[in-house]
Amino acid sequence: MKRILITGASSGIGQQLALDYAADGWQVVAAGRDADKLAHALASINFEPCIFDMQEPAAIHKAVAELAPFDLVLLNAGNCEYIDDALHFDAELFARVINVNLVGTANCLPALLPRIKRGGRLAVVSSSVSFLPLPRSQAYGASKAGLDYLVRTLAIDLVPHQIAVSLIRPGFVDTPLTQKNDFAMPGQVTALKASAAIRQGLAKGKSEICFPFGLISTLRLLSWLPQGLWRRLAQRLVRSQP
Ligand SMILES: NC(=O)c1ccc[n+]([C@@H]2O[C@H](COP(=O)([O-])OP(=O)(O)OC[C@H]3O[C@@H](n4cnc5c(N)ncnc54)[C@H](OP(=O)(O)O)[C@@H]3O)[C@@H](O)[C@H]2O)c1
Repeated sequence: MKRILITGASSGIGQQLALDYAADGWQVVAAGRDADKLAHALASINFEPCIFDMQEPAAIHKAVAELAPFDLVLLNAGNCEYIDDALHFDAELFARVINVNLVGTANCLPALLPRIKRGGRLAVVSSSVSFLPLPRSQAYGASKAGLDYLVRTLAIDLVPHQIAVSLIRPGFVDTPLTQKNDFAMPGQVTALKASAAIRQGLAKGKSEICFPFGLISTLRLLSWLPQGLWRRLAQRLVRSQP
């Protein structure tokens, strides 16, 4: 039986992945901050809880110290907050988002990389936000662009250790994280579809998993525009929002 550890398993994409990997016969270790929330979210499956806050390295080490090795470690937990007023820049918000998404993910590595089996895989959930500079996304986008670099460099340096690495870049997914958004989210998919795309990509051994196809193709095309033209387009997008 294959073993997986998933962070952020109490909600959204991570919850759906935990449910689906368990249904596929995997042994699931579900990580979250709140044992009750985790138990409630995953009440329908058998799983091993692993309770820690990604911002507390000592707690991570303690929580995973006795765990048996994994075939797949999927670092998915993250948060999103937007900068509403760029002129009066909220540096505390910026640090908060970077600390959870980028530093928090890095905090998991020293405890979890040695627990991935030879021939196993590390997967990290970033975002499609890093294809383009998007309005209000200074903190979230910087955290995910940092994750992209972190993961792509790990993919080089973990080769000799026989650990494969996958970078996951979803578009908009309907989860509690996006349910608070007040803007249009083109191409939004359900957590069920996101989980299917991620599991399929990982099963094929893909190094980058981007979805949904339509939104990603549009973002790729737009990212080839000259920066000045993109800035003008982005400003028009902001003005057209309800
Ligand atoms: N939804 C989207 O459209 C979308 C698009 C692209 C990328 N993503 C990425 O996908 C990942 C999952 O997002 P989601 O949409 O499923 O969001 P979600 O429903 O809000 O779930 C976020 C998960 O992360 C956990 N988490 C947050 N801060 C944590 C911390 N300090 N320590 C440990 N766990 C923490 C939460 O745990 P608690 O329950 O304890 O709060 C929760 O389980 C994130 O990395 C997000 O950036 C999402």
